[in-house]
Amino acid sequence: MPEIIKLINVKKAYRVGNIVTWGLRGVDLVVEEGEFISIIGPSGSGKTTLLNMLGLLDKPSSGKILIEGIDVSTLGDRELARLRNRMIGFVFQTFNLINRLTVLENIELPLIVRSIPRSKRIELVKKALLMAGGDPSWLKKKPNQLSGGQQQRVAIARAIVGNPRILLADEPTGNLDRASAKIVIQTFKNLHSRGQTIIVVTHDPEVANCTQKIYLLQDGKIIGLKKPDPDKCILVTV
Ligand SMILES: Nc1ncnc2c1ncn2[C@@H]1O[C@H](COP(=O)(O)OP(=O)(O)OP(=O)(O)O)[C@@H](O)[C@H]1O
Ligand SMILES: [Mg+2]
Repeated sequence: MPEIIKLINVKKAYRVGNIVTWGLRGVDLVVEEGEFISIIGPSGSGKTTLLNMLGLLDKPSSGKILIEGIDVSTLGDRELARLRNRMIGFVFQTFNLINRLTVLENIELPLIVRSIPRSKRIELVKKALLMAGGDPSWLKKKPNQLSGGQQQRVAIARAIVGNPRILLADEPTGNLDRASAKIVIQTFKNLHSRGQTIIVVTHDPEVANCTQKIYLLQDGKIIGLKKPDPDKCILVTV
């Protein structure tokens, strides 16, 4: 499969006053189209920093990020924003939904930026919500009227509604009970079987074991690759 993302010696330093903290100390990574991978590692090892780099939410201090062969450092802010909107969907541990908007309005946000007409938006929103294991009866509700597991399904619908090529998730099951975590991972599996590229950061080995490759991050570096044990995936363990 063709490379969809390539990181070459990506480093990220955070400067607060005189103090420099390294988020990433030189990461090389190639993700092929259609791969379902996970990134695990201790707290502070750089997982969120890496995901923010992959999602073009933040710029590296040095090194290169290529998306479909395009060096993103050559893009202007508007081109970068357009590339991000078209290519990348994000799911967060804390859902990050907007509580003053309805579920429908939350999910359609990525489509409004693209000026898609309302009737088409509603059709795409319903399709995405079903794909994410949600229910159309939620559409008029506010996110805080739903359970955590239901809110995460809404957040996944928002992430996939624009049909992004890459889905990134930072601890998507971290705040969920086991039954809700299973629904999230089953949704990712379904999306993967339809060709979706997925990168998930997780503390949970039972989540990592559902993916195709596990990258181990430590102290800002990828220190190894682990083979997942599908018998220990959350979808099959009791
Ligand atoms: N905005 C920031 N300013 C300063 N330092 C930061 C910032 N973001 C992250 N760091 C530092 O960079 C390092 C990596 O942080 P990161 O959030 O990527 O870790 P993580 O692996 O996601 O951890 P966790 O499992 O706790 O979410 C840590 O030492 C952290 O303190
Ligand atoms: Mg993190």
